[in-house]
Amino acid sequence: MPIIGIDYDKCSTCGICITTCPRRLFKDEEGDKINFEDPNSMCIRCGHCIARCPEDAVLFEEMGESFEFEEINKSEEIIAFEDMYKFFQVHRSIRRYKKQKIPKEVIQKVFNAMQWAPTGRNMRSETFIIISDKEQLKALSNAIQEVLTNDKAWGWLYGERLANLAKEFEIPVYFDAPHLIIVSSQLSTPIGIQNIANIITYGRLAAHSLGLGTCWNGWTQAGIELNPKIRKLAHIRAKALGAFTIGYPDYTLYRTPPRRLKHVKGL
Ligand SMILES: Cc1cc2nc3c(=O)[nH]c(=O)nc-3n(C[C@H](O)[C@H](O)[C@H](O)COP(=O)(O)O)c2cc1C
Repeated sequence: MPIIGIDYDKCSTCGICITTCPRRLFKDEEGDKINFEDPNSMCIRCGHCIARCPEDAVLFEEMGESFEFEEINKSEEIIAFEDMYKFFQVHRSIRRYKKQKIPKEVIQKVFNAMQWAPTGRNMRSETFIIISDKEQLKALSNAIQEVLTNDKAWGWLYGERLANLAKEFEIPVYFDAPHLIIVSSQLSTPIGIQNIANIITYGRLAAHSLGLGTCWNGWTQAGIELNPKIRKLAHIRAKALGAFTIGYPDYTLYRTPPRRLKHVKGL
C-alpha cells in the first residue's frame, strides 16, 4: 500500500487530507483522530494528501520522493506568463538535426520531465523506449515509408512527401534525427491516447528547455496501425503509441510562424 499511515506525533487533525483525497480514504469518525482506510486498494497514489499536509504527517512508501522548495505556491515566480508564452512561440517542430547524439544524462532529464505529466486516474502505466541505433532507425523508417506509401489514403497524403524526404535524408521518416522516443500504453482507449499526448508534450517542452529539438511523428503510429508487425522493429507490444524525434536542432528561427488566434465563444 502506498500510503502506510499517519504520524500521530505530527498530525494536528486539521482534516485537509480528508477533503483533499479524491477517493475520500481519510476518515475522522471519532472526531479526534484521522485514519487512513483503504480496504479495496482505491488509492490512486496521486500524493495530494502528502503534498497538502501542513505537518508532513502522511506516511508513504514506494511512491518516490516528495520535494519542498521556496516557490512551491508561486508558480508565476518559477515561470512568468510572458516567458512561458514566448517559449510556446519558439517551441516548434524541428525537422533538421545535427548528427551529434544527446548525452544520457541530458536524455534522462527529458524522461524525468515526462513522468510529471498527468495521466487518467494517475495510472502512469505508459512505457518509454528510446531508439538511438542508426540501423534500427533506418529499418523502422523504411518499413513505415513502405506501408504508408502503399496505403491508398496515406499514400495520397504522404507518398510523394516521403519520397522527396528520401532524396535528402538517409532516414527520411525521422529526418536523420539521432534518437526516436516512443511512448506506448496498453490502454488503447481515448484516455490512454490522451496520456501519451500529455507525456510527449511534457517531454518535448522539457527537451526544448535543454536546447534540444523535437518533432511529433504521427507516421510511426499510422504505419504501425497499418502493419502491426512493424511493432517488433519499434520494440513495443502495446497498441497505443506516440513517437517523437529528438536531437540537437540544426535550425534557426528568424521570427515565429504566424498563428491566427481564435475567437473564444463566450469570453
Ligand atoms: C499528433 C501529431 C502528429 C504529428 N506527426 C507528424 C509527422 O508524422 N511528421 C511531421 O513532419 N510532423 C508531424 N507533426 C508536426 C505537425 O506537422 C506540426 O506540429 C504542425 O505543422 C505545426 O508546426 P509546429 O509544431 O512547429 O507549430 C505532428 C504533430 C502532432 C501534434
